[in-house]
Amino acid sequence: MEVFRILGGTPLNGEVQVNGAKNAALPIFAATLLTSEPCTIENVPDLSDIRFMGEILESMGASVVRKSPNTWQIQAKSIDPVAPYEQVRKMRASICLMGPLVSRFKRAEISLPGGCVIGPRPIDLHLKGLRKLGCKIDIRSGYLHLDASSLHGGRLFLGGRHGSTVTGTSNLIMAAVLAQGTTIIDSAACEPEVTDLCRMLVSMGAKIDGIGSHELHIHGVSELGGCTHSVLPDRIEAGTYILGTALASGDVVIHGARDRHLNSLLDKLEQIGVETETVSGRPDSIRVTRRSDVHLNPTDIITLPFPGFPTDLQAQMSSLMSVTPGLSIITERVYPHRFMHVPELQRMGADIAIEGASAIIKGVGQLSGAPVMASDLRASAALILAGIAAKGETWVQRIYHLDRGYENFDKKLCQLGANVERLSAKKMPSSLQHDS
Ligand code: EPU
Repeated sequence: MEVFRILGGTPLNGEVQVNGAKNAALPIFAATLLTSEPCTIENVPDLSDIRFMGEILESMGASVVRKSPNTWQIQAKSIDPVAPYEQVRKMRASICLMGPLVSRFKRAEISLPGGCVIGPRPIDLHLKGLRKLGCKIDIRSGYLHLDASSLHGGRLFLGGRHGSTVTGTSNLIMAAVLAQGTTIIDSAACEPEVTDLCRMLVSMGAKIDGIGSHELHIHGVSELGGCTHSVLPDRIEAGTYILGTALASGDVVIHGARDRHLNSLLDKLEQIGVETETVSGRPDSIRVTRRSDVHLNPTDIITLPFPGFPTDLQAQMSSLMSVTPGLSIITERVYPHRFMHVPELQRMGADIAIEGASAIIKGVGQLSGAPVMASDLRASAALILAGIAAKGETWVQRIYHLDRGYENFDKKLCQLGANVERLSAKKMPSSLQHDS
């Protein structure tokens, strides 16, 4: 096990390159099951979740070759459409194998994913949609047994209590591309990662109208071919560096940051008093500037599906508001219980009260370093950013969560001037550990 030791108080300056988006690459890997031809996927982030998805595909019978650190070639010629519990439980996103398996093989056996630390994550909308496409679903011994022998197009509504479903939309699109007839998905998720998947499917021969909107029309085709697809840059990674600079102060250019994917964050930052601009002549680069003597304003935020404020930046935003004097309120509409980072930020001196699905944050000006525990991917990032801005030393335990979603986070932050060290957990003084 590894930990991060952070010496806080250094501003961030320089340039940083964002990798491909994990949440686009995972369903894109699953989509390679839709054809027997090879698919080359470029700009794939080097992350444990991605390597794990590669292993699942390989265990099903696909040939999975990593041609370079960020380019993979996957060919799914002969596949056993079964995803066992040992694999699915390690990564919820493996549920997105369901769509391509039923689409091409007309049957699948996939374990139900089980619990998740960020709150309940049902898949009822995925299953409702698959049933509308003629799939028979039986739940036995913790497994979904899917019989799609009479898969056909249909009209589905994917809106749920917390908005649409991102992976559910991806699953249903992949199920529909090889189904006979037309499928209309109403209230489809329109996150850029879903759009990226659609672009890949179109390059494989799929017929999809309305890409990027809440209403998708998918006209089933009889087969798909191989493709070469480059994964879009990770807007959440970009947003994390933007928020890191806002917290620590400094001047950073983030390459692979598209303003059209980040407008809800950029708009809030403008209200708060953090300057951002798209670099002239470089539409994929954003510069963020925060002078340490400029006072920021508190704000209120509600997380929503795209293009609303992303839940995956809520924890990092909570770190920023923890040091911004005044009263801020952050309301979680996507995962109302996603506040696992709050008790850890409180250990660093943050003044936060949770009231239902809202965090009421009284900004304290400065946090102080402390040993803290990461509970999930975005909470890890939030605590590390808080540690960089805090006074003194912060130790972050359980950083394996971080490695699921941020490539070289520590190295990139060091390159920007932060003092972040990755150490074996054995190097952490036992008096500071609250893990054993
Ligand atoms: N929901 C249902 N029923 C369903 C599916 C979802 O009620 O059948 C609810 C969920 O419980 C949640 C909301 O709808 O309240 C949104 O869930 P969604 O299905 O959109 O989430 P997801 O597809 O499982 C993806 C990302 C998450 C990100 C969410 C929201 C991947 C692999 N994961 O999850 O990313 O938070 O969309 O944008 O794409 C992360 O990267 O840290 C992460 C958790």
